[in-house]
Amino acid sequence: MKKIALFTSGGDAPGMNACIRAVVRTAIFNEVEVTGIMQGYTGMIAGGDNYIPLNSRSVGNIIQRGGTILKTSRSTEFMTKEGRKIAYHNLVAHGIEGIVCIGGNGTFTGAEIFYEEYGIPSIGAPGTIDNDLWGSDFSIGFDTAINTAVGAIDKIRDTADSHGRIFFIEVMGRDSGYIALAATIAGGAEIVMLPEIKEDYHTMIQFFKERTISKKSFSIVIVAEGNFEGGAAAITSLLNKEIPGFESRVVILGHIQRGGSPTALDRVLASKLGYGAVDALLKGEKNKMVGLINNKISLTPFKEAIANKKELNPDMLKLIGILNG
Ligand code: F6P
Repeated sequence: MKKIALFTSGGDAPGMNACIRAVVRTAIFNEVEVTGIMQGYTGMIAGGDNYIPLNSRSVGNIIQRGGTILKTSRSTEFMTKEGRKIAYHNLVAHGIEGIVCIGGNGTFTGAEIFYEEYGIPSIGAPGTIDNDLWGSDFSIGFDTAINTAVGAIDKIRDTADSHGRIFFIEVMGRDSGYIALAATIAGGAEIVMLPEIKEDYHTMIQFFKERTISKKSFSIVIVAEGNFEGGAAAITSLLNKEIPGFESRVVILGHIQRGGSPTALDRVLASKLGYGAVDALLKGEKNKMVGLINNKISLTPFKEAIANKKELNPDMLKLIGILNG
């Protein structure tokens, strides 16, 4: 393989740039050229200026930067046969023989279909703050996102304590409670509400019914955006209806969790996975996601990574119940 393409796709995640840097430098180390594709699948189809040659210098001074220098998108055009056909012709015109894509499930689904239709092999690196990808204990961006969330929770704690209020803090995670779970434990919050667990609501109500006994003066509840009963605003009004009298406030952390300089952990993870992706591609692997399992680089077929749901660790839930007393 003499030339590969590299792009980022789906929601951006801090550490994507560190991964881009690792992919480019590992490829160059192996005498393989790299073409960066701007804006993910959208740019792959649009062609023209979206295809840019990358060298070691193009990826200098980016390891510490959030976002992605290659930009990103959620492409609907690539979901169509016509879109993929144009993408294929553009790749052939640039002499691309393999692809490294950094993204999540949607990105890998696209890469799998593309291989079935056109035979261009891909290796994916998991880049999503949600950490919900099967086949890697951690995904690029998760550690930075939870550190951002915990920094915000610490600040909210101060004002919650001063006023004796309940704060409902909404964190990202449309389908996954990983951010919420980690932020709850690290932020010392008492209750977590997750997309995966329906009984959370009753646990929360019970907690506030018994709260007078524990004599807590303020409380922090972490709500994942995709929680069953809705986000933090919906939960607050439900609690107020059920048990009136609490003074509560809602904070939605939103996209601040997606930005900022990646943590050292995310930079190391991204560097390992970027290296691992190119290494796999050059060894003839295809249509697999490179991940870290028990601190070892491993490969999981896209099909498996897409089909399986990474379960939450029940020990973490148990821990929250023990530590919130
Ligand atoms: O997948 C990452 C994520 O940040 C989710 O947690 C969130 O629901 C979603 O992306 C938001 O996407 P967008 O930026 O397109 O609104």
